[in-house]
Amino acid sequence: MNIEFCKAIFVQTLGMNLRPKTAKESHTIMTELVLPNDTNVHGDLMGGRLMYWMDIAAALAAGRHCSAPVVTASVDNISFENPIKLGNVVHIEAKVSRAFNSSMEVHMKVWGEDMAQQYKYKSNEAYYTFVALDPNGKPRTVPELVAETEEEKRVFDGALRRRQLRLILGGKMKPDEALELKALFSKE
Ligand SMILES: CC(C)(COP(=O)(O)OP(=O)(O)OC[C@H]1O[C@@H](n2cnc3c(N)ncnc32)[C@H](O)[C@@H]1OP(=O)(O)O)[C@@H](O)C(=O)NCCC(=O)NCCS
Repeated sequence: MNIEFCKAIFVQTLGMNLRPKTAKESHTIMTELVLPNDTNVHGDLMGGRLMYWMDIAAALAAGRHCSAPVVTASVDNISFENPIKLGNVVHIEAKVSRAFNSSMEVHMKVWGEDMAQQYKYKSNEAYYTFVALDPNGKPRTVPELVAETEEEKRVFDGALRRRQLRLILGGKMKPDEALELKALFSKE
């Protein structure tokens, strides 16, 4: 049996659609209003609440890409550039930046909006990784991601390095195996 035949049977059996998808197809925008219960003692949005909303927005984007249930595998470091104030609006934009075998990296940008002053400000940017699961709760294959715009291509290109770094930190890869990262620091 050739590989394409095996793949066709696999897809048919599991009812999976592995058609490559664009980042645009997973594009998700989430909008929230910062209420008193979302804030800390300074009247700013709590980091944990924002990360919770980001987790949902990113899961929706990953789910749209693979048309399957997903779980959060890891969250990269997040730096909060600007606090989001009580009464401001939070905009979270999420889309899949690269797909691997069963995992997908989701790129997110977050803005705050002061409606009274009519201005929007960047809060932070982050990457979350999700794994698609089959009906038995095991990782399953996801469609490839096709990057179209210049920015999508730039983020796609960096995804392999970020993947290797997070797998090392998660104890899933030995530093010696991280060839993309090595190349980044190698003088040759
Ligand atoms: C994420 C999870 C499904 C990985 O399952 P696993 O049995 O360890 O599977 P594998 O080691 O075969 O890895 C499966 C995929 O997960 C990815 N993965 C595993 N650990 C990872 C990590 N720390 N960061 C990023 N990706 C990770 C692997 O790279 C692999 O991706 P690939 O198929 O695209 O190469 C499993 O650890 C899990 O269910 N974790 C709990 C998820 C959860 O409850 N999230 C909510 C937060 S509490």
